[in-house]
Amino acid sequence: MTNFADTREVLSNYLKARIPLVVIRSMERSRCEDLLISLAQEFRQMPFYLHSRTEGIKQLGDGQLVSDDTSLPAAIDFATGVFKRTEFANFVFTDVEELEDETSTSRHFAELARLAETRGDTLILFSSKPVWTGLGRLGMSVTLDLPETDELYHVISGLIEQYRGQVRIDWDAEDVRTAAGILTGVTETEAQNVLASLIAGGTLTRDNLHKLSEYKDRIFGDLAGIERVPLREDCRVGGLGNLRTWLSRRERLMFADYTQLKITPPRGVLLVGVPGCGKSLSAKAIAQDWKLPLYRLDMSAVLGMYVGQSETRLREALQTADRVAPCVLWIDEIEKALASGGGDSGTSRRLIGQFLFWLQESTSRAFMVATANDISSLPPELTRKGRFDEIFFVDLPDACDREEILRMYFSSLCDYELPDQLATRLVRLSDTFSGAEIQSAVSDIGQALFADERADMYDEDTVVQFFENTVPFAQSNPDVLENIRAWGRSRAVPAGTEQTDDTAGMPGGSTGRRIIMTV
Ligand SMILES: Nc1ncnc2c1ncn2[C@@H]1O[C@H](COP(=O)(O)OP(=O)(O)O)[C@@H](O)[C@H]1O
Ligand SMILES: [Mg+2]
Repeated sequence: MTNFADTREVLSNYLKARIPLVVIRSMERSRCEDLLISLAQEFRQMPFYLHSRTEGIKQLGDGQLVSDDTSLPAAIDFATGVFKRTEFANFVFTDVEELEDETSTSRHFAELARLAETRGDTLILFSSKPVWTGLGRLGMSVTLDLPETDELYHVISGLIEQYRGQVRIDWDAEDVRTAAGILTGVTETEAQNVLASLIAGGTLTRDNLHKLSEYKDRIFGDLAGIERVPLREDCRVGGLGNLRTWLSRRERLMFADYTQLKITPPRGVLLVGVPGCGKSLSAKAIAQDWKLPLYRLDMSAVLGMYVGQSETRLREALQTADRVAPCVLWIDEIEKALASGGGDSGTSRRLIGQFLFWLQESTSRAFMVATANDISSLPPELTRKGRFDEIFFVDLPDACDREEILRMYFSSLCDYELPDQLATRLVRLSDTFSGAEIQSAVSDIGQALFADERADMYDEDTVVQFFENTVPFAQSNPDVLENIRAWGRSRAVPAGTEQTDDTAGMPGGSTGRRIIMTV
């Protein structure tokens, strides 16, 4: 059953039981109103009045306006009159504010509820927030959640059926399901608005499906706890073939229709490893490749809050991620915030628990990409099997990945196609370089060319010089590197393609492989 039908059944029982006060918690006024209209049809023998600040008071059965006075005090007076005169009447208030605390409004409603009780009447309030306990205790409440995928499916297909024939509509039932999946988390009205805007564009093609995420993103302009990361330039990752293959198998799962499936969407990956080798870059690249919005959850900011606030903040952030899903949720250098030793360890323990709970329980399509450089301070619970879908170890690029990265940056930063012979020399020279160090050496060359106002590349020896001048992290910190490697090799899956020792370091072994990962 959908939540609309569930809620309707609960409400129907409340009405039969003549509960004097019913609070319907929802963010969607019009859906609540639809719900009551359908109940008014079921309980025809009872009068239903509904007050709104735009129209005044109308009868729900026949929709007839009984008063055009829109003010709240007038409506309360009217309801008081009805409750004094009539048995089994229902009075709905749709726009009431200041019900969370004890205010004169909430006290007035409490009085009205007590009056309702004397004659078997029911006072019904729509509220998006919890109400003051002094009021809430006089009755029952029910929550009408946002429409589920199934309901959105009907909303969307209903809307596009109206326009079939007038505009080009390429979507079949499966595309509508995909659209419903993407829009999950928005209200019915918002879904209608998004669809109407697309249809107004004149065509509804498969390409438009990706636009839905953009629209949805606009709906959630002001987000609690997570920050939208704009993907300006092309995020191209060289190498990391294993990770790339793994991800491409997950892409379809991210967009699958889960109403028909027993499985749940992918949860995400943890990328650990050597600094500067493409972990953060990969987070951006995944979002770009999957055409999903990227959100960053800043754990350090969450942890830096006052005692007790960090948990609320993290919960809000994860809930927001569930609502904006499908999306990529990125936590960069997760170990910094969750270091097991330092800081207020009580708080970080609880946060880790909360975070792991979400990883396990959430069924939304928020794909988590967490990165970590310093494995020694990673809380061990995080790396236990079954938390993330996979833990990848990002090592220094091997020869063939270095060749790919070198070619990529020479082409993009210097507009220069690297000849094979120079490529072979540089691949050897850059042994133990990280992707970031290669990028930085090539970028230095590009800047020097500009400063020297040269149109063509330097001679080979000069180019080589730029690389010889770099002392890579791996050489200056061999112990750190060894530690990271020992950890990664024993506990994680290699993100790069595994190579045998004979071919490692030998560019010749990589012939034919020229994959540029435009993930
Ligand atoms: N595999 C790679 N392919 C292409 N560029 C890379 C790669 N690894 C690192 N880089 C370059 O180095 C920069 C820093 O890499 P980053 O992903 O931030 O490293 P980290 O693994 O520490 O998160 C990137 O923005 C990119 O320019
Ligand atoms: Mg990083």
